[in-house]
Amino acid sequence: MEEMKVTKFPEGFLWGSASAAYQIEGGWREDGKGITNWDQFVRIPGKTYKATTGDVAVDHYHRYKEDIALMAEMGLKTYRFSVSWARIYPEGRGEVNPKGIEFYENIIDECLKYGIEPMVTIYHWDLPQALVDLYGGWESEEIIEDYVNYAKTLFKAYGSKVKYWITFNEQNIFTSLGWLTAQHPPGKFDDQKTFYQVNHHVFMAHAKAVLAYREMGGTGKIGASFAYTPSYALDCKPENVMSKHDYDELKNFWWMDVYAYGRYPKAAMNYLRKKGFAPVVTKDDQKILKAAAAEIDFMGVNYYQSCVCEYNPMDGVTPYGTMNTTGVKGSAQVLGVPGIYKNPGNPYLMTTDWDWSIDPVGLRYCCREITSRYDLPIIISENGLGAFDKKTEDHKIHDEYRIDYLREHLKELGKAIEEGCEVLAYCTWSFTDLLSWLNGYQKRYGFVYVDREEEEGATLDRYKKDSFYWYQDVIKQDGENL
Ligand code: NOJ
Repeated sequence: MEEMKVTKFPEGFLWGSASAAYQIEGGWREDGKGITNWDQFVRIPGKTYKATTGDVAVDHYHRYKEDIALMAEMGLKTYRFSVSWARIYPEGRGEVNPKGIEFYENIIDECLKYGIEPMVTIYHWDLPQALVDLYGGWESEEIIEDYVNYAKTLFKAYGSKVKYWITFNEQNIFTSLGWLTAQHPPGKFDDQKTFYQVNHHVFMAHAKAVLAYREMGGTGKIGASFAYTPSYALDCKPENVMSKHDYDELKNFWWMDVYAYGRYPKAAMNYLRKKGFAPVVTKDDQKILKAAAAEIDFMGVNYYQSCVCEYNPMDGVTPYGTMNTTGVKGSAQVLGVPGIYKNPGNPYLMTTDWDWSIDPVGLRYCCREITSRYDLPIIISENGLGAFDKKTEDHKIHDEYRIDYLREHLKELGKAIEEGCEVLAYCTWSFTDLLSWLNGYQKRYGFVYVDREEEEGATLDRYKKDSFYWYQDVIKQDGENL
């Protein structure tokens, strides 16, 4: 079959790259920043690789000018970063910290100076610990008001300069790892009832922030970023195809339907009611979710991998026994619903050093699904390859595997665009190397290598990888050279 030609990416396409506050900033106690849930979690023995923390991270707090100059040299059109709530409100609420406001203002101004569009993520997982101590963080509906107050502070401070806002990064992941698999704070295992209720609180916080943005006259674009792991049925055995359907409703549409339609998928809700896990949703909540759904401007997609669904007849017998969604057998289990499906891995796909399936077509699938189900513009807010990069003696990093990975994904994205999907932006994960939440600094994603190899003696110096020059060229040619 002849390969479909990749057309020119649309005018004004935002070629970007992304990061998150906790993973790059460091400066964990500087200029009045409060302690976060992550500052505390990483100090619990055994939680992270070699007990690594983000105390210093890649020191972006002090080197942001150098990093943004590198972005400008590359030609980035947008830079997606997150704000640390605890820099703005050290206690999560109450007094604003002017130094925190100033820090992000500086970042925004530095981007604008070079013509780089700032894209701001309001919440990328670091929560002021004070709110956890006060009422249990996301477990209490009290947090909705605090989050909205924090979001409004950002809209007020930066609204005239920032045109792209992401309310939450990967709500599905931070809640799954926080309440189902105990890998992220608050480190709870299989607490399904709380998991769904927590998610409802996050949805309400998202919705109220979107509405507040509009009430404040915000004319930019606002939405949420979802970790979309699309699924394939193992084969045409009807039970396997049904299990794919169950997976999609429970693991993908459960989130995206709320963002885009303001309602939960019916069959999934019925299933959760029977199990006793369904969240409490009032009539007022429904109205608010619907009103906000009508106001979002895009679906943010973080795409890394796909999964395979096979019917699991063991419902209720061996909960969690045979399931994972991370692409291959044996990798971390992230599912919350026992018995409906399992993931046997995909024999057609290679995997990364961390056993994540590599599936460029899956990215096109995501775009097509969003376009036909929601008819919304799309921002690819993350896509990238985590690998063990090595710096040569002459300070080069030959990461051709990353170039291959990104090129193949971009080709598929180009096809999706040609097929009619409206894609506004593509952000790689990540610009510089950064802290991988659980894997320390050995899992690298960046275009820019950061010397953090050894904890002692790390210079934190920056080195451009081969992929840096490659992406620079892609941007220059607007994707024509893929
Ligand atoms: C998604 C998350 O948003 C980001 O924080 C993380 O580092 C990457 N995935 C890679 O796992």
